[in-house]
Amino acid sequence: MRTAIIEGDGIGKEVIPEAVSILDYFNETYHWGVEKVPVEVGLGKWERTGSAITDEDITLLKSCDLILFGAITTVNDPSYKSVLLRIRKELDLYANIRPILPVPGVYKLLKIKDRKEADVNIVIVRENSEGLYSGIEEIGDEKSTTLRVVTKKASERIAAIASDLAAERKNSLTVVHKSNVLKSDKLFLDTCKQVAESKGVNVSDKLVDFFAYDLIMSPEKYDVVVTTNLFGDILSDLGAILLGSIGLAPSANIGDKQAFFEPVHGSAPDIAGKGIANPIAAILSLKMMFDRRGKKREAGLINRAVSAAIHDKIVTPDLSGKYSTKEVGAFILSKVRQYDAASFCLEDPDGLL
Ligand code: NAI
Ligand code: MG
Repeated sequence: MRTAIIEGDGIGKEVIPEAVSILDYFNETYHWGVEKVPVEVGLGKWERTGSAITDEDITLLKSCDLILFGAITTVNDPSYKSVLLRIRKELDLYANIRPILPVPGVYKLLKIKDRKEADVNIVIVRENSEGLYSGIEEIGDEKSTTLRVVTKKASERIAAIASDLAAERKNSLTVVHKSNVLKSDKLFLDTCKQVAESKGVNVSDKLVDFFAYDLIMSPEKYDVVVTTNLFGDILSDLGAILLGSIGLAPSANIGDKQAFFEPVHGSAPDIAGKGIANPIAAILSLKMMFDRRGKKREAGLINRAVSAAIHDKIVTPDLSGKYSTKEVGAFILSKVRQYDAASFCLEDPDGLL
């Protein structure tokens, strides 16, 4: 199993090593045979070589089954084309899965009293290949245009993934759109409804503006949500409010061949180099990778270890803690080892869950 490791820029270089040390632990302990393939892309590479990503990088990524990605800083140059968009397009990673599930104990830690963790368990399924991120743009001094593309094919495949996920959960799917104004969204809405109904999933829909309000005010109303590219991008950052910090939000980008896992956050230049970035989003992204590969027990161990960090208040400043990225990462790894050694996979040793 070839796994590309892209640290990227800024805090990507700080949080990814913490996730990789957990991957290394399992790989070495259980002889999984994971071959790590380091790949450099992003601003650092641009500054060094004049190119943020090359054709060779894409070939290398295509040779890997899985990709663990940190974050990259957008290059401030008119000729720059988004590295992430290119990777998503070339590998056809068409489904972006963003769970909004609070780590047990985080509301207590942050003294959040006006909502309950048990009310928040949502997955945002974001169409990742078209919409306003089509890359079809005409840029001028007087007028610039970006083409918003919605196709039946892409809407069908994202609706199928979302409906299958809904069927595994509460069998309820909400389509989020703006079809009252954007007529292209009517195709998205109608297609999602058809696919969901054909799979026997209960489907409803919400206009994106009210949904943004309702997501925060009444998260208990939602389970699986499917939406277009830009809406999904914005709503999942918004949804991170329900997690307590953007530093706790993991995600997966799924295609038919490869799967790519990354924290929702960016490279955070404001805190990069200070050693205080929260590594949990990266670690939970690794957990999503384990889930995807059927490593349910190991994924469960990571969940429990992360809960232990929250419970013991071994957390970074975004969660009002005083610990560094490395200290939080080392604590979580030590808990993973402890729970693994004790075969505590199905139990709840510290009574956290
Ligand atoms: P950002 O997510 O990097 O940071 C937003 C705020 O959240 C900052 O105050 C930052 O310090 C904080 N934050 C983010 N992750 C954190 C963590 N793990 N622990 C503690 N605090 C954390 O978004 P921003 O500032 O809009 O973008 C910075 C750069 O990252 C830009 O160049 C942007 O294009 C890029 N970006 C890259 C992404 C990717 O590679 N997937 C995604 C989003 C942004
Ligand atoms: Mg985003």
